[in-house]
Amino acid sequence: MTIQELQQEIIRIKKEKDICILAHSYQTREITEIADFTGDSFQLSVQAQKAEQSTVIMCGVRFMAETVKLLSPQKKVLLANPVAGCPMAEQMDKEMITAVKEKYPDYTVVAYINTTTELKTVCDVCVTSSSAVKIVKALPEKNILFIPDCNLGSFVQKQIPEKNIKLLQGGCPIHARITEKQAVAAKNAHPGALLLVHPECVPEVVKHADFVGSTSAIMKFAEESDAKEFIIGTEIAIGQHLSYICPDKRFYALSKELICPNMKATSLADVYHAVCGDGGEEIQLDEDTMRKARVCIDRMIELG
Ligand code: 13P
Ligand code: SF4
Repeated sequence: MTIQELQQEIIRIKKEKDICILAHSYQTREITEIADFTGDSFQLSVQAQKAEQSTVIMCGVRFMAETVKLLSPQKKVLLANPVAGCPMAEQMDKEMITAVKEKYPDYTVVAYINTTTELKTVCDVCVTSSSAVKIVKALPEKNILFIPDCNLGSFVQKQIPEKNIKLLQGGCPIHARITEKQAVAAKNAHPGALLLVHPECVPEVVKHADFVGSTSAIMKFAEESDAKEFIIGTEIAIGQHLSYICPDKRFYALSKELICPNMKATSLADVYHAVCGDGGEEIQLDEDTMRKARVCIDRMIELG
């Protein structure tokens, strides 16, 4: 079977079985082409709520599928490839944050959505990279404990100096390994290009950026900009998608190390097996955990 034949088969089966396929923008082109919706973490969670289909297949990582389940508990939600997890989401657990909260009782816990459902049960509000600044600004509380990504947290702190943001040592191992030296070298190699980076990069990289934003915000910026060349400081899929969307523009990867093995774990064959009913993993969360975790997701949607 060719890629196109497999794609057509997936489209036929998903229509027949009333299945919605959601794909994060870091997924490969062959997957985003067959998805009903592609976007960043925040857009995917909003879309999950709107989807009319009774079954949703998430092509992304586990916390994204869990977010869909939290928002649509009546739906059958499948993670297309069960091994796809986000290492950042596993860095801090409920016990650790409960202990930190006891030490800082007057702090509001703001959790990046890249966290487990269990951890969300002890947090006050969730944010995504595209909504973090807006949500933290909208919170009436001044003292914020921002978890787990200290890079996104420090980006938020710079935008909202009036807040007192406490950070812990966590973050994305893929974005955090990009160095200032690499950012400077990429700019020197492409002097006419704009540098667009994800806020999960370290502050030393972010300070050289012409634009900082979520995956979708980076794509929107590049599409709408009059500039013709861009260095993309996030997972390489974003530059690849942009090359198809804007064939007249040039996109360079900030580093060839910007490949998330978890986001790349899902193949078109995984999606095929998930729609056929002999693949993927159905997300199962207990009622009590869902009820408690949903509070901070609902607050995110309300404020974002
Ligand atoms: P977005 O919120 O930009 O979709 O990012 C999710 C993610 O995992 C980034 O590494
Ligand atoms: Fe997690 Fe980083 Fe991969 Fe995003 S790029 S899913 S934050 S490991």
